[in-house]
Amino acid sequence: MKINVGNEAKEMRAVWFEDGVVKLIDQRKLPVKFEIFEAKSTEDVAYAIKEMVVRGAPAIGITAAYGMAQATLQKRNVEEAFQMLKNTRPTAHDLFFALKLMKEKIENGEDAISAAENYANDIIGRCEKIGEYGEKLILEGYRILTHCNAGALAVGDWGTATAPIRKAHRNGKKIFVWVDETRPRLQGARLTAWEMVQEGIEHAVIADNAAGYFMRKGEVDMVIVGADRITKNGDVANKIGTYEKAVVAHENGIPFYVAAPISTFDFSLENGDEIPIEERREEEVLYCRECRIAPQESRARNPAFDVTPAKYITGIITEKGVFKPEEVHRLMGVD
Ligand code: MRU
Repeated sequence: MKINVGNEAKEMRAVWFEDGVVKLIDQRKLPVKFEIFEAKSTEDVAYAIKEMVVRGAPAIGITAAYGMAQATLQKRNVEEAFQMLKNTRPTAHDLFFALKLMKEKIENGEDAISAAENYANDIIGRCEKIGEYGEKLILEGYRILTHCNAGALAVGDWGTATAPIRKAHRNGKKIFVWVDETRPRLQGARLTAWEMVQEGIEHAVIADNAAGYFMRKGEVDMVIVGADRITKNGDVANKIGTYEKAVVAHENGIPFYVAAPISTFDFSLENGDEIPIEERREEEVLYCRECRIAPQESRARNPAFDVTPAKYITGIITEKGVFKPEEVHRLMGVD
């Protein structure tokens, strides 16, 4: 992705491997500060995933792949590294997909660093393909709503939900993006809006509870979101609040698309009820950044994801085409 740091325009990814170190754009700090986090050990990589220095399903998978390569380079026990990285976040399937693939390749004696680089390039390439298929769904003048950050930061480059948006913009279509702020961690307001600024795409940040208002007024032409896990029947786990957006889009006859590469599909699960949903610290809800916004006495609940039933999803945009949720299992072969 092209980003502007100070007066300099740079082409860079959200995560990369350099001199044995896993380097990450620190997504906790954006947009206020642009900092690079250096993960020098498996513990550092696990910390970066758990504490959301890096987040977004495909980017978590790529980071874990580099983490496995680093562990091999440092002659650490591969099984221990695998377990440590696996126990970081439970919902995004990409983490487990990447770890399993890397473990198999390392055990087969393949070069771990090349395997991790190939994994990163492959997933990013698949997301660019998502962009090509998804772009065709976006018509001139479309106003597209997205939730959370399923952007280049969440993949490494291109994004999933934002890949079609970037392609449409680069192909000269006039588009507008509604960016849900995405409480509690504000991935929309902080990260998607930052990406839209970098790419020069017209957009507005809205409070999470404003989406229905704009949908009902006819100011949203389509919704595109990412996914953390998609099950055999086409149910989708994504950032908390996605389910509500899908129901309201359905009520208003607005097409609701999910964009995801193969690493996000978990066909071992029949439906969304089987997806483990991460529940994070209550402080993320009780505070907004460093400021406490609820009474000291109040408690909170903080599920990080919800499940959108397949019946609310118009189509799933993949690197192999756009499929109906009920067809996705049949049409997405794993290769
Ligand atoms: O908790 P996060 O920020 O990791 O959640 C991210 C999302 O829910 C994204 O929409 C999803 O991972 C798709 S990223 C291309």
